[in-house]
Amino acid sequence: MTVSNEITNSLKELENEFSVPKETLLKIIDYFVEELNRGLVDGSDPLGIPMNLQWVMEYPTGNETGDYLALDFGGTNLRVVMVHLLGNGKLETDQGFYKLPSNMRTTNDRNELFDFFAECLEKFLIDKHPSGIPENQVFPLGFTFSYPASQKRIDSGVLQRWTKGFDIPGVEGEDVVPLLMEKIIKRNLPIKVVALINDTCGALVASRYVNPKTEMGCIFGTGVNGSYYEIVSNITKFKGLIPNDIPENSLMLINCEYGSFDNAHKVIPRTKYDLIIDETSPRPGQQTFEKATAGFYLGDLLRLTLLDYYKKGIIFQNISNETVKILETEHCIDASFPSFLESDESDDLKTCKKLFNDVFKIENASFEDCYFARKASEFIGTRAARLSTCGISAAAKKRNYESFDVAADGSLYLKYTKFAERAADALAETFGWPADMPYEKHPIKIVKSLDGSGVGAAVIAALAHNRQSKGLSLGME
Ligand code: BGC
Repeated sequence: MTVSNEITNSLKELENEFSVPKETLLKIIDYFVEELNRGLVDGSDPLGIPMNLQWVMEYPTGNETGDYLALDFGGTNLRVVMVHLLGNGKLETDQGFYKLPSNMRTTNDRNELFDFFAECLEKFLIDKHPSGIPENQVFPLGFTFSYPASQKRIDSGVLQRWTKGFDIPGVEGEDVVPLLMEKIIKRNLPIKVVALINDTCGALVASRYVNPKTEMGCIFGTGVNGSYYEIVSNITKFKGLIPNDIPENSLMLINCEYGSFDNAHKVIPRTKYDLIIDETSPRPGQQTFEKATAGFYLGDLLRLTLLDYYKKGIIFQNISNETVKILETEHCIDASFPSFLESDESDDLKTCKKLFNDVFKIENASFEDCYFARKASEFIGTRAARLSTCGISAAAKKRNYESFDVAADGSLYLKYTKFAERAADALAETFGWPADMPYEKHPIKIVKSLDGSGVGAAVIAALAHNRQSKGLSLGME
């Protein structure tokens, strides 16, 4: 089927706005390396990448053992995991999933959130020990808290700012570990938080437990971020503060928090839709890279694009007021919507048609409407995947890594149509690998991580425990 010139021209215009050609990627990567460096040297730039220390100074060997609980609070739901590390790269897990109440993202009472965590931990322990929670045992807990937290020690972390649409007063600027411990103690649970972990660090360490080629952990999900091991002597912002038993040539796992890359708006080409996303978010001016690439925003980028072209009279003419209202509702669709549109390969785009009927109450979306929306999704999804690789390329350049695996997790990487292929293609383009080189031969490969927020948290907790038992320090104080 053909489409009108009007649609073709509008799509050309849109493609232009969302495209990030190779030259732009290379420019972004160079500036990304600068920002990574700056974050290690000067922690005071409010527009810079935080480069938070995770206080993991070694690679796991695969021989860590012990039983650890993990509490995974990533953004969409909550999970409690019991991890039995058996050594030899072997482990067993047992987990419980808990739905985060929909009002929790923006509740006014921080107690609700932390008490919900403790309630889920309690439910999990009761479920696993129906005859009574053991009294003579304290479960060490790795708390996977996937938000920017500055850590002076591995078992503490002050929330720098909420991301991913969270906006709960009284938590930013506070150490979240005592907030959780207070609720754990109130419920008399035999649990002690021994490590606060970022999900990207968990992904790296969990995968490294079984795959020594792993050098980076990345999340491409509701939010976006990456971690890698840096050399301590390069972290000059804490010169003189890092304890002596962590030598200058030691490794240090860094949670880059590069969702905030380019907050100074120097290199990422932003469309008018990006500007609206930013202005209407709870934290305007922050998480610039994340707002262009992460799952929490892709649905809304599409919604704003469709709304704009509806207002220009190009698509969705004659829709009802009810549909206009839905189109005007922030976050009424998530990233699965553009992903589903993109996956429709039928000649008459019947999946797209059905989706518009189901979600936007458009009874008879035309072929042109569907075609436009599908293409718009392709531009948005492709831009996200291509930009997402800039963090990987920048870390690789910074550490001179030529061949390694990136342990990746998150809904976009796992589920968004063609995200993984597009990211691999962008890496090939950036590094100049032949376009026909099979993905499995790529020197830098993005591979599915082991469960970082569960297993990774447990391995990090075990590493902290090992250091503690040798009397080694776990942080700056
Ligand atoms: C958070 C990071 C996290 C990422 C992926 C971002 O919004 O700031 O801490 O790693 O999302 O979950």
